[in-house]
Amino acid sequence: MHPSKQILGSKGTGLKGRKIVLGICGSVAASLSPAVARELMRRGAEVRAVMTPSACKLISPQLMHWATGGPVVCELTGEVEHIQLAEWADLLLIAPATANTLSKIACGIDDTPVTSVASAMLGRKPLLLVPAMHASMYQNPAVCENLKKLQGMGVHLMVPKIEEEKAKFPRPEEIADEVERLLGPKDMQGLRVIVTAGPTIERIDPIKIITNRSSGKMGIALAEVARRRGAEVVLIYGPGTEPAPSGVKVVRVETTEEMRRAVESEARQGADMVFFAAAPQDLMPERRFERKLRSGEVVEVRLVPAPRVSGEVRGLLPQAV
Ligand SMILES: Cc1cc2nc3c(=O)[nH]c(=O)nc-3n(C[C@H](O)[C@H](O)[C@H](O)COP(=O)(O)O)c2cc1C
Repeated sequence: MHPSKQILGSKGTGLKGRKIVLGICGSVAASLSPAVARELMRRGAEVRAVMTPSACKLISPQLMHWATGGPVVCELTGEVEHIQLAEWADLLLIAPATANTLSKIACGIDDTPVTSVASAMLGRKPLLLVPAMHASMYQNPAVCENLKKLQGMGVHLMVPKIEEEKAKFPRPEEIADEVERLLGPKDMQGLRVIVTAGPTIERIDPIKIITNRSSGKMGIALAEVARRRGAEVVLIYGPGTEPAPSGVKVVRVETTEEMRRAVESEARQGADMVFFAAAPQDLMPERRFERKLRSGEVVEVRLVPAPRVSGEVRGLLPQAV
């Protein structure tokens, strides 16, 4: 066994036995493709890489050979690698997908190893594209049109965050979550799930607060699993330290009262399950000082019970779990 494959399943079994072709295009985000391959492998997947000529100019195929522990397809030969890979794979992930490659796939053009594998798989097996490019390219009307066209053909897209004028590439964990969601069981499809996560804060004065050390990890893990299993998820998230997951509706809140109101507002729209995984402040200052307290000043802060986040949810959702 190639030594790189020793990590197979080291982080979980969510993708055990799954076969993924990782298509890599000529974007600077190709530098992150080894990390994407390794994350998929740590969850149990077998990964084979296929690269466009532009991608090969930006990162070495040797690096992808090391990352995946298998041969990398950079050109098609008499072995008809594109047909073999298309038959072998459970899913084609193109990460990063350039404006050029996604537009070509939308138009049925096939002139690189990546577009050839896409041609052989489109309509037969799931395709997940992770676009990465400058915002100007992502907002180009032709590219927008091609993205819509791809969605109409059943291609899955990870919608990038526009930051620093770039359609930013998601974290490898987010991409692997999406792959797991597409390949995993969908036994929560059709369910609407509300999850609370993280701490809340209560203000003493405009600067000072009381809070707790909750990171939000538990609620975020629940939200991710529910989403992966096909549920529509609303995450009501206090100021935790964990990044919010992609693909769920995130409602950011600060105080316990804000969390209570957000839960009630979402509950009014209906839900099948509610997970109270947050650690809201159960005590809050009886009065809030409107001015900043000065250092050296002696003040008494009386703590009183904060509102209960679960408040009226049971009454609003008598059937929910
Ligand atoms: C350093 C560098 C970075 C690039 N980054 C991107 C990018 O992030 N997204 C993109 O769509 N094109 C990017 N391009 C342009 C593509 O490489 C170019 O359109 C190429 O034809 C894409 O070919 P491919 O889709 O076959 O990989 C970049 C080019 C260079 C030289």
